[in-house]
Amino acid sequence: MHTLILELPDAAATEAVGRACAPALVPGMVVTLSGDLGAGKTTLVRGVLRGLDISGPVKSPTYTLVEPYAISSLYLYHFDFYRLGESEEWEAAGFREYFRDDAICLIEWPERAGAFLPAADLQIGLEITDDGRRCTVTALSARAEACLTAIAHQGTAAR
Ligand SMILES: Nc1ncnc2c1ncn2[C@@H]1O[C@H](COP(=O)(O)OP(=O)(O)OP(=O)(O)O)[C@@H](O)[C@H]1O
Ligand SMILES: [Mg+2]
Repeated sequence: MHTLILELPDAAATEAVGRACAPALVPGMVVTLSGDLGAGKTTLVRGVLRGLDISGPVKSPTYTLVEPYAISSLYLYHFDFYRLGESEEWEAAGFREYFRDDAICLIEWPERAGAFLPAADLQIGLEITDDGRRCTVTALSARAEACLTAIAHQGTAAR
């Protein structure tokens, strides 16, 4: 398990983390994004999508809970579980079916899904500071290490 801590002075820096990570994401990976309201989770997801050549608006799935993207032969699902209700909602929505080998899943508010969520490969935490955001990235699987390396080499790393 490896952790990287970055200081992100503005939203562009948060987006850059997502862009840097994007090429290292492989189908089947589960990425969690934790942090308070307004910490920058959706901003980072926007960077991932830009890094995967998805242009156009990136909607926050605040009410729909999930926004799907099809990228040639792979799928990416962006979840926001802030408004996820009781366990029946998880079952009723069939969220389990989204976590497939051909899908990358990015999850805001993973805490709200609790034990339903499969194990994460990569955990990203965003914390609001006086100078912007502090981003903590932890790799929990071998394939997630490549993401950490890609992010570390993008130039904004605080060393
Ligand atoms: N490093 C940063 N420094 C300053 N502002 C930032 C930074 N990163 C993102 N922001 C700004 O923070 C605001 C909230 O970002 P965003 O919507 O991505 O948060 P979120 O974590 O997804 O919130 P929510 O929990 O409500 O979904 C945006 O205005 C964004 O531009
Ligand atoms: Mg959000």
